[in-house]
Parts: sequence; structure tokens; C-alpha cells
Amino acid sequence: MRDTMLSYFNEVFGDTEGVKVYFAPGRVNLIGEHTDYNGGHVFPCALTIGTYAAVRKRNDRKLCFYSMNFKNLGLIETSLDNLVFDKKDDWANYPKGVLWTFEKHSYQVDKGMDIVYFGNIPNGSGLSSSANIEVLTGYILKDLFGLSIDLTKIALLCQYSENNFNGVNCGIMDQFAIAMGKKDHAIFLDTSNLKYEYAPIELGDAKLVIISSNKKRGLGDSKYNERRSQCEQALARLQKVADIKTLGDLTIEQFEQYKDAINDETLVKRARHAVYENQRTVQAVEALKAQKIDEFGKLMNDSHVSLRDDYEVTGIELDTLAESAWKQEGVIGARMTGAGFGGCTVNIVKNDYIDSFIENVGRDYEEGIGYKADFYVVEIGDGPKELL
Ligand code: GLA
Repeated sequence: MRDTMLSYFNEVFGDTEGVKVYFAPGRVNLIGEHTDYNGGHVFPCALTIGTYAAVRKRNDRKLCFYSMNFKNLGLIETSLDNLVFDKKDDWANYPKGVLWTFEKHSYQVDKGMDIVYFGNIPNGSGLSSSANIEVLTGYILKDLFGLSIDLTKIALLCQYSENNFNGVNCGIMDQFAIAMGKKDHAIFLDTSNLKYEYAPIELGDAKLVIISSNKKRGLGDSKYNERRSQCEQALARLQKVADIKTLGDLTIEQFEQYKDAINDETLVKRARHAVYENQRTVQAVEALKAQKIDEFGKLMNDSHVSLRDDYEVTGIELDTLAESAWKQEGVIGARMTGAGFGGCTVNIVKNDYIDSFIENVGRDYEEGIGYKADFYVVEIGDGPKELL
């Protein structure tokens, strides 16, 4: 891949003298959805697919960005002195935001760069292409400019960037999962204090299959920020009767005891998802540790139902995929992953049934929705690195 990236760089910038090549993974969340901004637990892992960048420092302060995935947008040029959000810069607002954030936090980047990006995760698929570009860029800055910054801090700065530069109030899950990825492990992260533990994902005779609904979405135009503020409203009402800092502080029994204080049907549903999903995630990791993979899969299915009925972020596309998956032989668990409103589902499928799974779910989806879904059998990979 290093050579491919160098040849892309050559195509765009004319030579490859002094160019370095980097990679950062995409991520998939196995369980714990919409819990990260509620002080709950998440259980994501990094993938072996993701985004590559070929980059070279410049002698001036100019920034030249090019994406092989958005060739139609051509070269996007700006400078270190003009790090402001500009709609016409499209995807390049992600790396720009990271540069802006680093500067704001006194990490010195004093030279411009030429960068070519290429991602092999489907854009807008919910495998977190935005966080992927952000963490990749943060890692490049650390390495090229010799910054003393650890991976957790890079994740936090990238989240800051997405929140404050791109206007999406995302939690920490995606950036953390990408920065801290570990081959064949998922990350059990408590978002209330960033304590985490790696759990081996040993699926035996099964694999992770991701299905992209091909329904495009961006978090900016989704109801993501609305859901977040509904949780905040529910929390404020609960805090009148319970001494809690986040919805993640509540057990299921406490939630059932206090929920009447919320006094609004929609807000009760949103909070119920946040509380139950957090507890489900804790249980799921326990089940996995006890090698009760079927129980883990059942909790994945329950997670989807809660996201469908209480959190209302699935939509017909993701429901069609999950509901078809549940009917197939050899399926251990299936649920939407990421923010929802389109994007992907994650499925654990026994090896012997993967072909029939792809055929049957693919058919159900095309019949029901009118266009095709894409299937990816994925592997769990490491965090960001330079390709030498
Ligand atoms: C997006 C956000 C994450 C998280 C998920 C939902 O991926 O970036 O922070 O909130 O949605 O679990």
C-alpha cells in the first residue's frame, strides 16, 4: 500500500522526494451505542481497513489536500493562517479542524504540508470516516513535527475538533477506538473517566460481517445533536430526584424508580435506551469473557431493538438489514453500529453460513429498499502507524 500511496502522491504533486506514508483504521462498535456522551460504556474495535495518507512538509505555510476518494473536488488549498471552516472545502474541513485544534492547544505546527488521502472504508457508511481522517491527521502532526503527545490526547483533540470546528457534538468513542486500536481486541471503555481495558475477540468459527446500507448520511445533517440534547434534558429532570452526574450513573432499577420525574414520553424513551444500553454493554463484555458468545449476540440484537424503538435512530434500511439477519441460519448477533440514520450493521456470522447470509440478506435488502447493500468480512486491526 505504501507504493500505491507514493504513486498517488506522485500523480498529484509531481515527485515523491521525502514523502512519508501513514495509516489509521476505521472502527466498528460491537455494542454500547449512543452511550458515550451519556457517561456510559462502549465496546468498539479498530479495523484493518481505514485511511492512508502520503504527506510531505512544505517550506511555506500552505496546505494542499487531495483525496483519491473525492477526485471531483480536486486539490483543496488553504494555509495555516486561514484555518476556518469553509463549506466548499468539504471533507478537508476535518484535517483543517485538527490543525486548528492543535494550534489552539499550543502544539506547534509551523510549516504547511502536501497530503494525499485514500480511504478504503465506504464514505459516510458509519465506520467513522471523519474520525478516521482526524486521528490520521493528528498522528501525522505528532510524527512530522515531533510533538510530545500521546494517543489518548490525540483522540481527545480530534473529538474537540469535530465538536468545535465541524459542529458535531460527538462523544469520544470513535476517535478513541481508532487511536487506541489493537489487533484482535475490542476496547471496553468507560467514557465517564476514560478507563479502558482490551478484551480479546475470539469468535472461533465465526467472523464479523459489516453491511453498508448505502444510505448516505453525515452526522451534521442527522438528528445526532438532537438526540444528545434530549438526553441532556432527561438528565436535568432526573437530577432533581437523584444524585447523578450522567445517565450512565443509573442502574436499571434506579432508572425505573426515578423515571417518572422525566415527565415526557419521548425523553423517557431516550433516557431508557441510554441506561439500558450501558448496562447491556457491561453484561455483553462479561458474557464474552465467559466465552458465552451466544449471549453476547443476543445482547447485540437487544441493542438494535432499543435503538429502533426507544432511541429511534435506525430507520427502514438498518431495520431491514438487522431483521433479515436475525432470520438467517448461523447468525450469532446483528445490530446497527455507529450513529444510525443509515450507515452500517455489524453481524457475527458462522463461517459456514457467510455465503448464504450475504446472498439472503442481500436479496431481502434489495427487494425491500430498491438498491443494493455492500458486505465486508472484516478483521480487527491496530491503531495508527507509519508505513515503512
Ligand atoms: C457517532 C459518534 C460517537 C457515538 C456514536 C453512537 O459515531 O461519533 O461518538 O456517539 O455515534 O454511539
